[in-house]
Amino acid sequence: MQKLGWPFLAGRNITINKADGVYLYDDRGREIIDAAGGAIVANVGHGRDRVVEAVAEATRQHSYVVPPWLTPSRQAMLDVLGEHWLPDHLTRVHCTSGGTEANEAAMKIALHYQQAIGEANRTKIIGRSISYHGTTLATASISGHPNRKHGLLGALPKFPEVASPYPLRCPLGSYHPNAGQYYVDLLEDIIVSEGPQSIAGFLAEPIIGSSGGAITPPDDYWPAVTDLCSRYGVLLIMDEVMTGFGRTGKKFGHQHWQIEPDILVSGKGLAGGYAPLGGVFASEKIGLAIEEANYPVMFNTFGAHPAACAAAAEVLSIMVEEQLVQRSASMGDYLHQQLHAAFDQHPNVAEVRGKGLFAAIEIVADRESLEKFDIDLQVSGRVVASGLKHGVFYYGGGTGEVRDIVCMGPPFIVSESQCDQIVSVLRQSVDEVIEAI
Ligand SMILES: Cc1ncc(COP(=O)(O)O)c(C=O)c1O
Repeated sequence: MQKLGWPFLAGRNITINKADGVYLYDDRGREIIDAAGGAIVANVGHGRDRVVEAVAEATRQHSYVVPPWLTPSRQAMLDVLGEHWLPDHLTRVHCTSGGTEANEAAMKIALHYQQAIGEANRTKIIGRSISYHGTTLATASISGHPNRKHGLLGALPKFPEVASPYPLRCPLGSYHPNAGQYYVDLLEDIIVSEGPQSIAGFLAEPIIGSSGGAITPPDDYWPAVTDLCSRYGVLLIMDEVMTGFGRTGKKFGHQHWQIEPDILVSGKGLAGGYAPLGGVFASEKIGLAIEEANYPVMFNTFGAHPAACAAAAEVLSIMVEEQLVQRSASMGDYLHQQLHAAFDQHPNVAEVRGKGLFAAIEIVADRESLEKFDIDLQVSGRVVASGLKHGVFYYGGGTGEVRDIVCMGPPFIVSESQCDQIVSVLRQSVDEVIEAI
């Protein structure tokens, strides 16, 4: 038999035979706490029989139906999205098979809209310096994620880029009171220098995902950015692939502020990991304009797959019935308290950050000067490996100049004692790695 390369590039290979609740079980039967919820995906936890049944039922009904048509599972997903989840102003739904495709579709929808309303020159979308939006050429290019662009640079389309807010390392000074306005001014400078009439949209995560490790902007940032975008006719495209569907303790991450994005992008938690699904949700104004212009919003063959929509309908219903968004908020508070207790005085941890059950630490060589460890030491990779050895799976983060980040995003059913273990193993792993350096 031919031996096949898996993964594509040689790397660490672990076999997980089973997962249940917040635990993964490897092929030796070892129990591992899934403190990362996979890739910050498994919001309702593993092994939910009713999701399995719903997926099986949808698969029995049909293996496949073209995405624009309705099926019982698509209707069930739309019903729960409309009744419990989406902000009232977002009425148009386009489904893909993941976050990358959803961001790509959202950017195209923004471009279509601007063309449709006669803004023919609005062809640019602004991205941010610390961000991740996906793997296609366009989404990789607009991402502020240098590590994921190696070997591609010459071929990537160009997008204007503005600095992501990073309060810990704001050039005005750490946690400077004017940091929010500082970063808003940078965005206005880019809009003006590129030419306001050339900008179609601004794509950003409300709280930065793993590229920055839950970097949270100052509270005045998002309201001012929203005003700025509407003043300049720029659509605000909120990438909530990681932060959406309860992860940060609100239904959507942007709801920590009083703002209304024009387009909301989701993935990961939408179907809780039970099936591949991404979602783009846009306002009626956008949908109508594109409809009237008769532009296509082309589907992916596997977008809105009936089995994936069945999984989403069930996962989102479980979250409502079990009040898991509230639980993400309250258990998130507990996790953050424990992380602060463990790391606030730690000489090598610069910051504990995030909201709800999305948290991260930034490891540094020196807490006072914020000096980083040498990149070749691969500190966060070693901490993740050590955590795994001690039975907890964390999600490594950071890119380029942002490094040595360890993220956490456990299922919302995580208990206090499991949070205690997540924090104590993290402390042990950080100490072991630093000791070895
Ligand atoms: C914020 C954000 N956007 C987009 C993506 C890409 O989604 P996918 O991996 O499902 O294509 C990710 C994946 O990590 C993400 O975190």
